[in-house]
Amino acid sequence: MAQYLFLLLFGTLAASVPTPTTSEPESCASASMSHATWEVKGFNYRSSVIYTFPSHRIANGYVDFNLTNLALPSTMTCSASSVQVMDFFYGNQWFKCLDPAGNDAEFQFDKASGRVDIQQKWECTDSNPVSFMATGSTNVKLECQTKRWQNPNWTSGAFYSTEYTDCIPQDFTLKPAELMATT
Ligand SMILES: *[C@@H]1O[C@H](CO)[C@@H](O)[C@H](O)[C@H]1NC(C)=O
Ligand SMILES: *[C@@H]1O[C@H](CO)[C@@H](O)[C@H](O)[C@H]1NC(C)=O
Repeated sequence: MAQYLFLLLFGTLAASVPTPTTSEPESCASASMSHATWEVKGFNYRSSVIYTFPSHRIANGYVDFNLTNLALPSTMTCSASSVQVMDFFYGNQWFKCLDPAGNDAEFQFDKASGRVDIQQKWECTDSNPVSFMATGSTNVKLECQTKRWQNPNWTSGAFYSTEYTDCIPQDFTLKPAELMATT
């Protein structure tokens, strides 16, 4: 039977974790408890809505960013695409963040509010084996620009209209609201 240890209010509990001596490398479990924080780099949203006919639309939204859990060595790449017009991301679907070390994370994004949810599971095997599960969310404030163009003299085969939205990539950090350790 597995033992579950719920570490709510992560910040206060982290203080009770023994700090490693400088001569020994910090164990994965200790690092996970003391600085599991996600660093988001280049959070980017963009979309394109192209009409090839007045009644035929091709619409796509994209989100891309790099994600690092400061307790773990590797950087994950997160990306998502959606065809659900018109906000594309509604905070109701998990997308993958691929980790070269195998500790893949997942994220959700809600375009209307800017809410970003992240969850990640990872295992520490360097000392006593322990698995972690962390979840957290924050709000990103996007600064976006939309460029619309309508073909003044449309003929079949040309674009009838285009609408491109681009945002300034954002960097931010996100602390897990909940960290669960399982031994
Ligand atoms: C994201 O990671 C890729 C590959 O590791 C790198 O080329 C790119 O510059 C990174 N982007 C940002 C915004 O950090
Ligand atoms: C629209 O395109 C047609 C065919 O190329 C051309 O004959 C016509 O002059 C164009 N009209 C305008 C307003 O540009």
